[in-house]
Amino acid sequence: MSMNGSYEGIEADTYDLWFVGDSSEESDFYETCMKEVPGPALEIGSGTGRLLLPYLQKGYDVHGVEPSKQMNDICKAKGKQIGVDPVLYDQYMQHLDLTLSYKTIYIPLASFMLVADRDEAIKALELMYLHLEEDGQVIIPLFIPREQLSSPKKEWTIRRCGEREDGATIVVNQSSDIAFNDQIQTNWNRYEIYHAGKLVESNFEVMKLRWYYRYEFEMMLERAGFRDVSLYRGYDRSPLSADQSFMIFRARK
Ligand SMILES: C[S@@+](CC[C@H](N)C(=O)[O-])C[C@H]1O[C@@H](n2cnc3c(N)ncnc32)[C@H](O)[C@@H]1O
Repeated sequence: MSMNGSYEGIEADTYDLWFVGDSSEESDFYETCMKEVPGPALEIGSGTGRLLLPYLQKGYDVHGVEPSKQMNDICKAKGKQIGVDPVLYDQYMQHLDLTLSYKTIYIPLASFMLVADRDEAIKALELMYLHLEEDGQVIIPLFIPREQLSSPKKEWTIRRCGEREDGATIVVNQSSDIAFNDQIQTNWNRYEIYHAGKLVESNFEVMKLRWYYRYEFEMMLERAGFRDVSLYRGYDRSPLSADQSFMIFRARK
């Protein structure tokens, strides 16, 4: 099975360049949720361990699910440096098959949207339900690409630009399109690495993201067996407002 947006090669190599800012509000949010429903937790799409590793350092029992070998390798190497040894499962969330069950399953940075096929997304929710202990919780942030719905950004724009440790400049150009009735945003990402002003490496990837509307996703959660669905507009846990396009769903088994 090939991955939607590879998170291998340059993408994996440069991932940590883009998340150097303060993510404490986000991290505190999941931590508070875990404290409220104590017990083992599972981060789906754990990547390079941006959230997972600090939780392990603090003593939380969190496992990771991540299908990119390279992201897992980076996560393990970073863990070694800080003295933690993460448990990582090389799996796709739509095929989740673990022997353990958890009190919390969370999927940061709207990575649930990477499961672009609707049937597979429904399957992923069902499998998360199966992997939760009784009373356990699932936490799924999602967004609607609202700006692009009114004016799709088909022209290439610089989405990210940063400098790697070795002095190379990394540029990510992006162009997007919207399939309105399919609720799919297609992003074309062009990665470029420049050394001394010369292009030395490039990569092109297609990433499809499926967006959901509020009531649609509530119904999907309920159909998968979840109850007590609540919604936040952000990591400060304030309630959703009518015009909000970022939504954090939280539901119980
Ligand atoms: C935006 S990154 C988030 C990484 C990390 N959770 C963080 O907050 O920094 C998305 C991650 O989801 C992983 N991913 C992509 N498709 C997935 C799938 N179908 N099932 C599980 N993980 C997936 C990617 O490999 C990538 O590491």
